[in-house]
Amino acid sequence: MNAPLRRGTTKLAIVGAGAVGSTLAYAALTRGTARSVALLDVNKQKVEAEVLDLQHGMMFIPPAEITGGDDVEVCRDADVVVVTAGAKQQPGQTRIDLAEATIGLTKRILPGLLEVAPNAVYIMVTNPVDIVTYAAQKISGLPAGRLFGSGTVLDSSRLRAALAVHCGVAVGNVHAYIAGEHGDSELPLWSSATIGGVPLLDWKSIAGQPPLDEAARTRIAHEVVDSAYRIIAGKGATNYAVGLAATRIIEAVLKDEHRVLTVSSKLEDYYGISDVCLSVPSVIDRRGVAGVLGVPLSDEELAGLRASADSMRAVQKRFGL
Ligand code: 2OP
Repeated sequence: MNAPLRRGTTKLAIVGAGAVGSTLAYAALTRGTARSVALLDVNKQKVEAEVLDLQHGMMFIPPAEITGGDDVEVCRDADVVVVTAGAKQQPGQTRIDLAEATIGLTKRILPGLLEVAPNAVYIMVTNPVDIVTYAAQKISGLPAGRLFGSGTVLDSSRLRAALAVHCGVAVGNVHAYIAGEHGDSELPLWSSATIGGVPLLDWKSIAGQPPLDEAARTRIAHEVVDSAYRIIAGKGATNYAVGLAATRIIEAVLKDEHRVLTVSSKLEDYYGISDVCLSVPSVIDRRGVAGVLGVPLSDEELAGLRASADSMRAVQKRFGL
């Protein structure tokens, strides 16, 4: 084991040691995201095995303490709590199909977590993440911004990866967001996207790459929405990219980065949209969501965002939230 933790070091608690939770722990440990990483799961044997496996790699990663178990105490005094626990999406199921089970689970686990980690920033990853975040916000009564969802950070990364490949430009030079639900009603914000400083809608193909015309944009948008279905059909769950996306969000919090990420938070009069959790470009710092950006939207994008909000509200209503 490493030397005991000193005061002032950072602690990350991950709830759920399934495919997403354990990959997230691995990603966070290899990147040195927090000095202490704790894993909590109801399945004692599984969580202890994951902790042991992670501990055995200690020699190859930045210094960290790795703990875990089935007792919520392992999360005590965490700076960030990430909730990944929940029902598993089966091939053919939408994220919304998981709502009933995961809202119930959120109601059961959140009070205990709030007791042991009352000052943490809470990040919900469990699907359907916008609905789970809305429910968790209500249950916890935490200040707006201190509890939010991983939202479409992953989808925005999928979009950027697809655009980078299509245009033959490094992914770091692509600035484009997916907004709305993390799910079927999400939408790309083409009108504010840029590639190397060039507005995406004015992009002229280079070096023999195909044009980024409307047909190409429609195909890429469809691929992004369909990504999780394809991966779940092929290997049963998505884990690597979501683990990295969540790690990126946690770093923005723990390192007080003021980074713009499309997380899901409760919107208040965002272009007239209120009382629903949706992803829009937001500034993330040590407090959580410090603010949301009023990105310019085309009429079509605004209509798409409103439709996404309406569909989330219908689900909230169905489950009495
Ligand atoms: C994903 O998009 C299933 O929400 C998960 O990978």
